[in-house]
Amino acid sequence: MNKKPKHVAIIMDGNGRWAKKQGKNRFIGHQKGAKVVKDIVEEATKNEINFLTLFAFSTDNWSRPKDEINLLMKLLVGSLKKEFNRIFDNNIRLCSVGNLNTLPDIVKEELLFVIEKTKTNTGMVLTLALNYGGKEEIIDAIKAISNKVKNSIISPEKVDESTIIEHLYTRNLPPVDLLIRTSGEERISNFLLWHIAYAELYFTKTLWPDFKKKDLREALLNYSKRERRFGKTSEQLIT
Ligand code: IPE
Ligand code: IPE
Ligand code: MG
Repeated sequence: MNKKPKHVAIIMDGNGRWAKKQGKNRFIGHQKGAKVVKDIVEEATKNEINFLTLFAFSTDNWSRPKDEINLLMKLLVGSLKKEFNRIFDNNIRLCSVGNLNTLPDIVKEELLFVIEKTKTNTGMVLTLALNYGGKEEIIDAIKAISNKVKNSIISPEKVDESTIIEHLYTRNLPPVDLLIRTSGEERISNFLLWHIAYAELYFTKTLWPDFKKKDLREALLNYSKRERRFGKTSEQLIT
């Protein structure tokens, strides 16, 4: 494969529908979905993806029934505990984007623990988007920049792309090369708005709990055949 994405982001969607199809509770879908995360992280590492960013819980997901939210949070803590050794041994560095302040303490603590323990790992950067919203991220960046302008730390004329990037939660991430969404929905749902400006989009009907290692390889293969032009003509890319 000649073209490998440096940064892959995934909207892991379809857990609820997967469970419903089998007459089961949505939570069973989330449980299976969490197992799939483990396999996909493993496959991404094997394919030498540098950055993998997973949409785990959006700011809008707080509107779901309380029971489902509680179960999702418990599942997250359980997965972090269970997978910590594997994450560490695979030299993966765990990061998070989103507003951690309003997450339950137990989630915050476990997450910060793994982030701290893996901060010097040099392999794949695995970022969990948790309580994340793309618009909120941009609003927070604008607030921070406005404050600096107000205090004469930045002059308004100097505000450019890099100023914005430096104030995003995702400041340490490169642009997304490949954005995958499972479950057949073809929308962004407020994910990584800034960083997907030139991402290649890949939608698959496969529900997240059914997404296999080979499905990730297929997405990577599809990506490798695309021509990214960034506004240029095809001819310009050859020279
Ligand atoms: C994605 O699956 C997981 C989260 C959003 C946390 P969904 O729970 O959205 O599954 P569907 O879309 O209802 O099938
Ligand atoms: C996006 O999925 C959020 C996550 C995968 C965490 P949703 O299921 O919440 O998105 P919509 O509501 O279908 O747009
Ligand atoms: Mg969904």
